[in-house]
Amino acid sequence: MSQPACLSPNKIIITFFSARSCVMASPLQSLVNDDSRYLKSFQLFLERSSEHQCMRDFIHQQLPDILASIGNGKSHLNVIGVGSGAGEIDLEMLSELRQKHPGVTVDNEVVEPSSQQLHVYKVSVAQKKDIDYISFTWNKMTASEFEEHWKEKKPTKKADFIHMIQMLYYVKDPGATISFFQSLLDKNGKLLIILVSGRSGWGKLWRTHRQELCTPDLSQCVTTEDIKRILDSKGVRYQSYELPSQMDITECFTEGDEEGELLLDFLTEVLNFSKTASPELKADVLKLLRQPDCSVESEGRVVFNNNLEAIVIDQQP
Ligand SMILES: C[S@@+](CC[C@H](N)C(=O)[O-])C[C@H]1O[C@@H](n2cnc3c(N)ncnc32)[C@H](O)[C@@H]1O
Repeated sequence: MSQPACLSPNKIIITFFSARSCVMASPLQSLVNDDSRYLKSFQLFLERSSEHQCMRDFIHQQLPDILASIGNGKSHLNVIGVGSGAGEIDLEMLSELRQKHPGVTVDNEVVEPSSQQLHVYKVSVAQKKDIDYISFTWNKMTASEFEEHWKEKKPTKKADFIHMIQMLYYVKDPGATISFFQSLLDKNGKLLIILVSGRSGWGKLWRTHRQELCTPDLSQCVTTEDIKRILDSKGVRYQSYELPSQMDITECFTEGDEEGELLLDFLTEVLNFSKTASPELKADVLKLLRQPDCSVESEGRVVFNNNLEAIVIDQQP
């Protein structure tokens, strides 16, 4: 398939057609194309939200039972983390895994394309005590590059636990990505996916402004509702868990506020959204973000519904 003229490998320009002005074209660039601004806005998002806290609650309350069921009594477990970022959440899951399987050794494959994130992950590992039981393999690559690499090498090993936490937005075909990784699971193996819930503020924002905000060659605006639809259509069985979470977006409503602009970039996934979006789109998005489907207002703060959902898939029968 030939590439549209507005898409180059390094720079995606989204041309949108505003319903009001009919054919008003505006070049909006995707935030994912600017690694450093993406990381800055992601870091700020983590500070302003309970994103990692709600994952930790899940890891300590629900995940232990899920992890207890993997491994089939083996003394060595294979784990694959896809889109691990700086690894904070991965390390927490690995520690829970060890508690459920004392004495096991673990081979942990990390699949992460950002060298900055991988570096931070490696530094945390170097500083951490009591993780000699884990051997790390660092794959600086995307999920699809890992898939190619795996198919070329044809390893015989199977995975006991695979996780993709907040990463399926960045692949072209989430259904195919899930199928590939599910095919790597060993007997009793589990694949854990965490994404924003379809019932979150993100779901409302993306259902309303998909055309203007979402990059067409990625599944960027995917929620767990979409993933469950894909799994249902293929007859794949899964369990799901809602993870309540919030994000304080008050600063987004102060014109010119630097952090508010960074958060708006993260929310819209558009680079410099405040400066590059049309005044109509900006006004529409800001109005929507305040609506009850997206946020609640309390004590002068605007609190966005950042609920996540975890989906757990078994090995293919
Ligand atoms: C929102 S962050 C989540 C990081 C981490 N899992 C967490 O929850 O804190 C998404 C991560 O996916 C990585 N990523 C982006 N595109 C990817 C791809 N095609 N394959 C694998 N990982 C990707 C990014 O570099 C980033 O570290």
